[in-house]
Amino acid sequence: MQVQLTVNGKPVTLDAPPHTLLVQAVREHLRLTGTHVGCDTAQCGACTVLLDGMAVKSCNMLLAQVAGRAVTTIEGLAQADGTLHPMQAAFKECHGLQCGFCTPGMVLSSVSLCTSNPDANAGEIRELLEGNLCRCTGYQNIVKAVQQGAVAMKA
Ligand code: FES
Ligand code: FES
Repeated sequence: MQVQLTVNGKPVTLDAPPHTLLVQAVREHLRLTGTHVGCDTAQCGACTVLLDGMAVKSCNMLLAQVAGRAVTTIEGLAQADGTLHPMQAAFKECHGLQCGFCTPGMVLSSVSLCTSNPDANAGEIRELLEGNLCRCTGYQNIVKAVQQGAVAMKA
């Protein structure tokens, strides 16, 4: 099966079996390994990517479902010159990570969250990020980072 889509702003054509998951296409076919696999059962959010700007769990979607659409992975979030996206910068400044395993998914979910709800308060951020699990941080600094990133995204 041939599938055409846009990944991180570039058109790509993938030749893959019909049962290929989006996360397999991203990690194994495109070698974009910043997208992690934590559970494979749509619970942890480590595999989160943006699909037309909104967060989806790529372990829970078929590649065929995203034909013709735009996928952004963590590798596509910073500018070409390496300048971090405001949400990445906020996670860095607020120490919103420890081991980093959840971080790509957490950052992409936060970008999506702040795009649809730029004025979310701390409680809403916790609620809206409930599909992304972190084993390390206790979430306090993640919430701070999302609040700082939301302000920076609006600027
Ligand atoms: Fe997709 Fe956990 S690997 S939600
Ligand atoms: Fe380790 Fe979140 S920083 S899982």
